[in-house]
Amino acid sequence: RILIIDFGSQVTQLIARRVRESGVYCEIQPFNAVTESSIRAFDPKGVILSGGPASVTEMGTPRAPQELFGMGLPVLGICYGQQTMVEQLGGRVAASDHREFGRAFLDVTDDCALFQDVWAAGNREQVWMSHGDRVDTLAPGFRIVGTSDGAPFAAIADDARRFYGVQFHPEVTHTPHGAALLRAFTHDVCGCSGDWTMAAFKDQAIARIRAQVGGGRVLCGLSGGVDSAVAAALVHEAIGDQLVCVYVDHGLMRQGETEQVESVFRDRFNIQLVVRHADDLFLDALEGETDPEVKRKTIGKLFIDVFEEEAKKIGGADFLAQGTLYPDVIESVSFAGGPSVTIKSHHNVGGLPERMNMKLVEPLRELFKDEVRDLGRELGLPESMVGRHPFPGPGLAIRLPDQPVTREKLAILRKADVIYLEEIANAGLYDAIWQAFAVLLPVRSVGVMGDGRTHDYVLALRAVTATDGMTADYFPFDHAFLGRVANRIINEVKGVNRVVYDVTSKPPGTIEWE
Ligand code: XMP
Repeated sequence: RILIIDFGSQVTQLIARRVRESGVYCEIQPFNAVTESSIRAFDPKGVILSGGPASVTEMGTPRAPQELFGMGLPVLGICYGQQTMVEQLGGRVAASDHREFGRAFLDVTDDCALFQDVWAAGNREQVWMSHGDRVDTLAPGFRIVGTSDGAPFAAIADDARRFYGVQFHPEVTHTPHGAALLRAFTHDVCGCSGDWTMAAFKDQAIARIRAQVGGGRVLCGLSGGVDSAVAAALVHEAIGDQLVCVYVDHGLMRQGETEQVESVFRDRFNIQLVVRHADDLFLDALEGETDPEVKRKTIGKLFIDVFEEEAKKIGGADFLAQGTLYPDVIESVSFAGGPSVTIKSHHNVGGLPERMNMKLVEPLRELFKDEVRDLGRELGLPESMVGRHPFPGPGLAIRLPDQPVTREKLAILRKADVIYLEEIANAGLYDAIWQAFAVLLPVRSVGVMGDGRTHDYVLALRAVTATDGMTADYFPFDHAFLGRVANRIINEVKGVNRVVYDVTSKPPGTIEWE
């Protein structure tokens, strides 16, 4: 196992993720909670010092416990971690007039254990930098193994003590061979065997949930999506019937969604599940509404009301389990209070735990989407649930842009959606796409079917690739595929006589149309 000491970098979790990917268990601990005895108790095979926003050149900024460097453990310092290690071992760090942010190139000048099988002397490697300060004088015992334009000590090594430092960030994907470098550290330098798996994560997460919840009662809102499904299955495995799930059908779901949730959670997993059919309530409240933000707010508010009502009926709970993922955590941290403009209010159910006085259980907080999917498979959730595309909280309401939500239009959307997704699955493309869906436009166009004139709606198809939904590109279907889908939809879905394909990326577009 590896200990990651966190100095507050935005990407510390990415280090953890890369370490897990190399088959090694790790834990992140904040710098101010780590002591020599806590390190001994954790018994790691190596320690990684993360980056961070502070400056080593200032007094009172974070340091690693000095004893760490006398414990005989391999240490890898990244960015701020490198700087503090060098400073703590007798070198010097200074503010640099050559700040580096973004892509940079590392000239590998010498071989070392950290570079084994990854980087050879003489190579030039793309790396990602983000620093103002830099190491200025090496600590005794270290030598330079790589340099960049802005950082003469971009990679340093003390093979005897197994201390390594890099100014760049190996954990981000913009350092293309960074994951291999971290693997070399955990495997070659620290000697980890690399046999840790998601199964082990599951066991540890279960133990943590049991410790947190004790004999308390936990409520979990299911949405039909991957995150809440995995959170619920995990919590259920941990505490069984202390968990009650609530699923609110707001009438804006895709076809068959509610039935799937019931069959998986109630029938297969034997989870206590309350299903509330509230479509009339939601559709009445949305009647005549065309403004996207009002639609979102109306749905979010009603959802909380209904959820609370159901929670009261079953006698309340001490905890609320949520499928918050790491990207949700970063997004809310980096944007909280910042000057960013609200493009869309995504967080439909904020405020619920405070209002109901429940503590949060968030067992997926450290994970990324694809890791959550692996965990879901580990828990025995069906592929149709763990592999599914994201679906927005306000559901089909925001796929009827600039027009009121009606039952008739929802029915058209559902039918078109089924055909589109069926064709995508048949073509073997489902997993290559982040999200694919139909949008019904508030526009009617003239067509001819048989010998008659038609005057029906235009349907737009959207499919995008993305890794986190923050940016996206349209999916390049071949024309034969698009022709086949359009043909089927126009023939099989009454009310649509024209199909178009959306080729906008994000930015400047967004994934959903409103
Ligand atoms: P946009 O449209 O902002 O979407 O590019 C990015 C991702 O977020 C989903 N999305 C939402 N999810 N409530 C949600 O829970 C919302 O109001 C909402 N709006 C968009 C969208 O489907 C995509 O995955």
